[in-house]
Amino acid sequence: MLNLFRSLRYRIITSIVMIEVVMLSIMVWANTADIERTHAVRLAQSADLVLSQFTATAGRHLLEADFASLDEYARSVLEHGEIAYITVSDNAGREVLAIGPVPQSRELDEGPAESSDGVYDVSDPIVFGDKVRGRADIGFSLAVMQGTTAEALRRGVGIAAIAVFLSVVAALLIGFGLTANLRTLATAVERFRRGDTDVSAPVHSRDEVGQVASAFNTMVRDRAKAESALRLSEERLRQAIKLAGLGYWIWDVATGRYAYCSEEHGQIHGVSAEEWVARGSPLTGDLRFTDPKDRDEVATAFDALRSGEGFELGYGVITPTGENRFILETAEPVFDENGSVVQIYGASRDVTDMRLAEEQLHQAQKLELVGQLTGGVAHDFNNLLAISMGNLELLGELLEAQPEALSHVEAALGALERGQDLVLRLLAFSRKQTLVPEIVDPNELVAGTVELLGPTLGEAITIETVLAEDLWPISVDRGQLETALVNLAVNARDAMPKGGKLIIETGWSRLDASEARSTADGGYAMIAVRDTGAGMVPEVLERAFDPFFTTKEVGKGTGLGLSMVFGFIKQSGGHVTIESDPGLGTTVKLYLPKAETVPVEKQERPRPAPPRGRGERVLIVEDDSEIRRLIVTHLKDFGYRVDEAADGRSALQIIGEDANFDLLLTDLVLPGGVGGEDIAAKARSLQPALKIAYMTGYAEGMANLAPDCAVLLKPFKKAELARTVREALRRGDPEGKMAVRAPLRVVK
Ligand SMILES: Nc1ncnc2c1ncn2[C@@H]1O[C@H](COP(=O)(O)OP(=O)(O)OP(=O)(O)O)[C@@H](O)[C@H]1O
Ligand SMILES: [Mg+2]
Repeated sequence: MLNLFRSLRYRIITSIVMIEVVMLSIMVWANTADIERTHAVRLAQSADLVLSQFTATAGRHLLEADFASLDEYARSVLEHGEIAYITVSDNAGREVLAIGPVPQSRELDEGPAESSDGVYDVSDPIVFGDKVRGRADIGFSLAVMQGTTAEALRRGVGIAAIAVFLSVVAALLIGFGLTANLRTLATAVERFRRGDTDVSAPVHSRDEVGQVASAFNTMVRDRAKAESALRLSEERLRQAIKLAGLGYWIWDVATGRYAYCSEEHGQIHGVSAEEWVARGSPLTGDLRFTDPKDRDEVATAFDALRSGEGFELGYGVITPTGENRFILETAEPVFDENGSVVQIYGASRDVTDMRLAEEQLHQAQKLELVGQLTGGVAHDFNNLLAISMGNLELLGELLEAQPEALSHVEAALGALERGQDLVLRLLAFSRKQTLVPEIVDPNELVAGTVELLGPTLGEAITIETVLAEDLWPISVDRGQLETALVNLAVNARDAMPKGGKLIIETGWSRLDASEARSTADGGYAMIAVRDTGAGMVPEVLERAFDPFFTTKEVGKGTGLGLSMVFGFIKQSGGHVTIESDPGLGTTVKLYLPKAETVPVEKQERPRPAPPRGRGERVLIVEDDSEIRRLIVTHLKDFGYRVDEAADGRSALQIIGEDANFDLLLTDLVLPGGVGGEDIAAKARSLQPALKIAYMTGYAEGMANLAPDCAVLLKPFKKAELARTVREALRRGDPEGKMAVRAPLRVVK
C-alpha cells in the first residue's frame, strides 16, 4: 500500500479525485441549501397569504357564528396540498374549529427553515369589523419543501458521483499516460544501471519526458562509445604489456598486501600471480626467489622503497624449478598529501635472454678485439722471427768451425722456432692463419684422428665415437681441424687425470639464429668432443677461449689451445659452443658449414692422378725393410731418383758423401740412437735448402717438429706418399708453401 502511494501515478490520481470530491461536495451542499432557502421563502409567503385570506373570511363566519360555513371554508382551504392542519379559536380561547392532525404542542416558528417538527406553524388574530373575533392557527407541512430539497440533494450527489467517476477515469487515463513513459524510462535507466549498455528508452513525445528519454539515449550511446574505446585501449595496453612480457604490480601500504599483481609478474618468477601474491615477496622481506648473491642489494632497495625512494634494479631470481633468470624491476612510491607512502607501483621484465645475448656479444667483441691485437702483433712478430732465423742460420754457417759458438746459435734458433710455433698459434686464434680448405667427410676425419689419439690420451681414458650417418661433407682445412680435435682431446685428457671417457660424436645441426648469429644459414656438421672430467666453474668457462688463459701450471699450458680452436672454426665460417658442469664433464661442439658442392659418390669421384716427380733426388731413411722397399718402388714409379738407408748412421754417411739431395724422407723414430730429427739437423747443416719430410705412426713426438717440415702419417697410401713428397719439395715456392700440410701441433 505504501509502495502504491510512492507511485507517481497513484499520487496524481488520488489527488485529482480528492480535489474533485471536495469541490463537488461543496457545490452539492451549496446548491441544496439554496433550493431549501428558496422553498422556505416561497412557503413563508404562501403561508402569509393563505393566513391573511383565511382570517379575512373566517372573521365573518365567526361573527355570524356560522361554524358550518367556517368548517366548510376551512376544509376547502385545507385542500391546499401543503396545509397540515387549521384551528380556529374564539376570543375566549375556545377552539371552535380543528381540522387536520393538530400537534399536541405548537410553537410558532420564525420561518419554515426553523421548524423542528416538520410543520411550519403560523398564527394570526381574526379581525372583522375592526374587532378581533378570534385567532386562526395554520400548520404548513414542510414535507414538500423537504422532499424537493432531498430530491435536489440526491440529484446533486448523483451528478457529483458521475463527475467523480468520470474524473477518476480521466485521472487514470492522464496518470497512466503520463507515467507510462516515465515508467519505461525508469525501466531503461534501471537496466542501464545493471550494465545493459544496449538499452534505449522509447521517445513518444516531445514533452519533458520525451526530452529526458532522448537525453538518456544519447548518454547511453556516448557511454557505450566511451566504454568500447576504453575496452579497446585496455586491450591494447594488455597486449602491449603481454608482448613486452611486462609484469605489473601495485602494493598497498595500509593493508600490507598487493592491490594488484599481473599474471606476467608471477610468471616472471615461475609461479602464477595468485601464488606470488599469497607467498609474499621482497616487499614483505621474503627473498626466497631472489638469487642469494643479489639478496642484500634487493633487500636494501626494497627497504628504501618503503621509505619513499624508487628504484630501477636488475637482479637474479631463481624459479621454484631451479631456473635462473635475470629481471629488471622498476618501482615508484605514491605519496598522500602528508607525504606518507600509501602505494607502490612496480613493473618487472625478464631480461635473461637479453643479458645472455649481451654477455655473448661482449665475449665475442672481447675475443674479436684481442684477436685483432694478437693478429697484428703476431704478424709483425713473425717477420721479425723470420729475419732473425735467416740471419742466425747464416751466422751458423759462418761459425761452423767454432762448435761452441754454433751451439749458442742453435740454442737461439731453437728458441726462435718455439717462438714461431707460438706465433702460428696466435695467428690461428686471430683467424689469420693460412687455411687450405678441402672437401672433408667429418666422420672419416674423426675416425682418422681417433686412431692417432690412443697414445696421446693414455690407457686410462677410453675413446668412444658416435658417428651420425649420411653426414654432408664440409669444406675445411683438414690438418687444422685434426689439430683442433687433438687440442680438445688433450684438454679432456688433462681434465681426467684419473682416467675417464672421451666421446667424439658427429651429427647434423641446423643452428637457429640465436645460437649462431654470425654464421651462415643452412646446415652444419657438428663434431662434439665430450669428456667425463672435472668440468669448469663458471668463472673458468667464461674465459676459456681467452688467449693465454690457463688454469694449468706454468709450463704445462699456454692457454692457447681453445683460442686456436675458436679462431680456426670462426675463420672456417663455423661456430663453437662449450658446455661444462663442474664435476661432470665438458662438451665442446664444433659446427662447420656444409660444403656448398654436393659430393660426388665415392666410386664415381674422379681421383686426381698422384703428382709425379721430375727426377728429384730423395733419400729415404726407414728401418722396416718392407716399408722401405715399398716406398722406394713407389717413388721410382713416380719419377724420382731414390737412395735408401736403414738407420741414422748410414743415412748420415750417405749425406756426408753426397750432399745433393732434394728431399730427405725419414722415419721420425729410428733404432741406434740417431733419430729422424738428428739426420735432418745434420743434413740441413750440410745443405740448408734441403726439404725434409718425416714419417711417423704416432702423434706424440711431433710437437717439436719444425713447422716447415712435411709429415707423412703411417700407414699411408701410395697417393698420399706422392702428395707429401711433392708438397715437401714445393715448400720453397710461395704457392707451394701454402700447400704444405702443417704438422699436427699437439699442445703439451
Ligand atoms: N675439457 C676440459 N675440461 C675442463 N677444463 C677445461 C677443458 N678444456 C679447457 N679447460 C679449461 O680451459 C682452460 C683453457 O684451455 P686451453 O686449451 O685454451 O688452454 P690450456 O689447455 O690451459 O693450455 P694449452 O691448450 O695452450 O696447452 C684450461 O686451462 C682449463 O682450465
Ligand atoms: Mg689446451
